[in-house]
Amino acid sequence: MTRRALITGITGQDGSYLAEHLLGLGYEVHGIVRRVALEDPARRFNRLAHVLERLTIHPASLESYASLFSIFSRHEFDECYHLAAQSFVAESFADGFSTLNTNINGTHYMLAALRELQPGCRFYFAGSSEMFGKVAEVPQNEETRFHPRSPYGISKVAGFDLTRNYREAYGMFCASGILFNHESPRRGFEFVTRKITSTVARIKAGLADELRLGNLDARRDWGHAADYVRAMRLMLVRDESDDYVVATGGTHTVREFCERAFARAGLDWERHVRVDERFYRPAEVDLLVGDSSKARRELGWEPRYNFEQLVDEMVDADLRAVMGDKKEA
Ligand code: GDD
Repeated sequence: MTRRALITGITGQDGSYLAEHLLGLGYEVHGIVRRVALEDPARRFNRLAHVLERLTIHPASLESYASLFSIFSRHEFDECYHLAAQSFVAESFADGFSTLNTNINGTHYMLAALRELQPGCRFYFAGSSEMFGKVAEVPQNEETRFHPRSPYGISKVAGFDLTRNYREAYGMFCASGILFNHESPRRGFEFVTRKITSTVARIKAGLADELRLGNLDARRDWGHAADYVRAMRLMLVRDESDDYVVATGGTHTVREFCERAFARAGLDWERHVRVDERFYRPAEVDLLVGDSSKARRELGWEPRYNFEQLVDEMVDADLRAVMGDKKEA
């Protein structure tokens, strides 16, 4: 029997890789998209253009319980991947209220509507290493205490707790992935990796000269999004639901990311990067590095990309895009 999956946040980086992955496995894939996005398909669906015809898209908003209820009352799903969120940490400092509202209520609405209409549907929650925040230990695993350092991190801890509570209170199959940073050529431009690689390409093409960044000493465990969406599905096809850290176990500073990205384009990062206080955060998460041994052991998951391959793929894609734009101009 064909399995049917629903993805919230399907137009985002992870949603697009997950949709491709599930289609490749023979799933029928549905997605929830806000009505405003449907009005601007060229821009909003750019990550999905190559598979759009094979997807079923439903207009709904995570801010409206009624709209989610309506979808679950009309369509049955085997698996639900809840990826939609306000996911930019810096923005959550600028507008904590809307990040908390959207992220916490959105998750609660999804869980409540499923419980009411489809308690047998398996649910995945996109937890985050931001939940560890001011880290209690290094590396971080499923037992590490949470200490979030931003409204975004707080909203993810609440979503994680809600998901676990629906599992424990109602016996639903609810799993959370605690995913460390994952990047790709489809990453949004506001995140540091894509900000770096897209600016590297513009500098190489002579369209820019400098790159302004905040904390160069922040360390992250950066993996590739295409690897991480495989782990999401593996969590939902187990006999029992549980929570898993997904990470590479390696760690690099923002400075090291710059060095590699500029060098890939034949540039010297020190000539172009400027530190700008505006990009510092009120509270920083300095050292995230994950211990994903449980996922490797129980899910049989492991990443295929290493750090260097990730950076190179992102730089190469941005170089191609900028050179293509220049030719067209
Ligand atoms: N965005 C950005 N812009 N970050 C910068 C900059 C800059 O100019 N300069 C330094 N940084 C530092 C940030 O201070 C942070 O320590 C690090 O680069 C990574 O920032 P982001 O790429 O914005 O990602 P994030 O780690 O805050 O959050 C991402 O990963 C989480 C998983 O840990 C997001 O994808 C979250 O949604 C995700 O949950």
